[in-house]
Amino acid sequence: MLKLTNVSRQFGGLAALANVTMTVPEGQVTGLIGPNGAGKTTLINNISGLDHPTGGTIRFRDADISRQPPHKITALGIARTYQNIRLFGEMTALENLLIGQHGRGKATILESLVFAPRFRREEKTLRAQALELLEQFGLQDAAHTPAGALPYGDQRRLEMARAIATDPHLILLDEPTAGMNPVETHQLGEQILRLQASGLTVLVIEHDMSLIQQVCDEIYVLNFGQIIAHGTHDAIKRDPQVIQAYLGEDAEDGAA
Ligand SMILES: Nc1ncnc2c1ncn2[C@@H]1O[C@H](COP(=O)(O)OP(=O)(O)OP(=O)(O)O)[C@@H](O)[C@H]1O
Ligand SMILES: [Mg+2]
Repeated sequence: MLKLTNVSRQFGGLAALANVTMTVPEGQVTGLIGPNGAGKTTLINNISGLDHPTGGTIRFRDADISRQPPHKITALGIARTYQNIRLFGEMTALENLLIGQHGRGKATILESLVFAPRFRREEKTLRAQALELLEQFGLQDAAHTPAGALPYGDQRRLEMARAIATDPHLILLDEPTAGMNPVETHQLGEQILRLQASGLTVLVIEHDMSLIQQVCDEIYVLNFGQIIAHGTHDAIKRDPQVIQAYLGEDAEDGAA
């Protein structure tokens, strides 16, 4: 479904991504792990069009999306969440979802300005769908609360619900459980598996290995911008290069 071939992203002298080749197969949950600064967020930024590769190609289904702007990529069916939550803090949870949906309506801007019947009908359906989505993410009680006033875990779930509101085929999750406790993390894992069961393809960046183990069919390991291993959780866990990458980080942490 998604194929990266020799993707590189050079920031001045720093190779944030160096010849990354990977595949995200349709219907699967693919994991992307690696130490801090490995290039994980850069990879998602490049897939979602927020940033562009300095080399290589990114293909989604039949399209080369390497140089496409974010709105085009969203329209093709790729949605994402952000490591640093990006919600409209002053707007309610429901309003945040309605904004995400709007590209889907068929009413023209003129119709919506004069509140034509088609627009009103669409508004009603979109609102009902948004409320249903909130319920799916356990946020029904938060519908009318400003997003910025919600607890951290709820904001993360709302970000994911907002991404789903664009009706994607592929969703990119950048550390969806950061700041969550183990119970919330496990529940989010179950939510990811439900999305997969409904037909969605997922690429998830995580530091929490229990979540990775819970949801991923296959895992890629990134270190200093390079893929150093890929395979199942069990295979990755035993890979000497992966162990070295993580032990190296621990050793640095210990010295700091
Ligand atoms: N816009 C930019 N300009 C220059 N350097 C950048 C830019 N964005 C990222 N980098 C650098 O690229 C490298 C990879 O960063 P990235 O944020 O992709 O890492 P990450 O794997 O997501 O890390 P973390 O686990 O901490 O989120 C880092 O060295 C970072 O400083
Ligand atoms: Mg990151």
